[in-house]
Amino acid sequence: MRRFGLAAAFFLCFAVAGYGVAVYGLGPSGARVHPDMLANFQAHPVGITTHILASALALVLGPFQFNTRLRARRPALHRWMGRIYLGVAVLVGGIAGLYMSYYAFGGLLAKSGFATLALGWLYTGAMAYVAARARDFNAHRRWMIRNFALTFAAVTLRLYLPPVFIFQLPFEQAYALIAWVCWVPNLVVAEWIIRSTARQQAVLPFPT
Ligand code: HEM
Repeated sequence: MRRFGLAAAFFLCFAVAGYGVAVYGLGPSGARVHPDMLANFQAHPVGITTHILASALALVLGPFQFNTRLRARRPALHRWMGRIYLGVAVLVGGIAGLYMSYYAFGGLLAKSGFATLALGWLYTGAMAYVAARARDFNAHRRWMIRNFALTFAAVTLRLYLPPVFIFQLPFEQAYALIAWVCWVPNLVVAEWIIRSTARQQAVLPFPT
């Protein structure tokens, strides 16, 4: 069951990254989004393209960074992928995401939801980097779990969209709510994972 969940999460990360690169890699005009969103993207092509191409890297690299075997066998690869994840994907994608949140569709609620997500993404990324540099790997792991939970908002956002169409909910209001719902529960799950794995590690006789 756990393996199935992880495989599904991996697949969804690659699918959303692939969607972003395929649809926006050649320019935002290929997007099938709300006309107001499309107009925003066409008015800010550098912001949206930079955001998507950089952020897609986080979805592709992130899942591998949690693989214990890869970390143990190829520590240099883990460090390099981590530098690209934090230094390119989160930093560049997050700043561009923060910029785009100012123009987001769905009014103030959507703008504030995306802006808070972007700030949280940048903050948890910075904390993870500082902890790694200080060789505090427990703290580094905790901050990376939080950070990836926020990266995963790109997946959860798109999982919440089909019910909006199926139940014909008013799109603008639903989208504004999703700008918050796509990441707040992810952070709650991240805290639960951090606490439950810390408890498991505490009962083990040796550190893992
Ligand atoms: C976690 C921090 C993120 C923030 C704060 C963020 C923010 C935003 C904002 C504000 C927009 C414009 C929405 C609008 O105009 O209404 C947007 C669009 C978009 N973002 Fe992100 N984003 C994040 C992560 C990601 C990731 C990891 C990807 C992966 C590829 C991604 C892919 C996209 C795509 C493809 C769009 C265009 C809309 C669509 O076609 O679905 N974002 N993002």
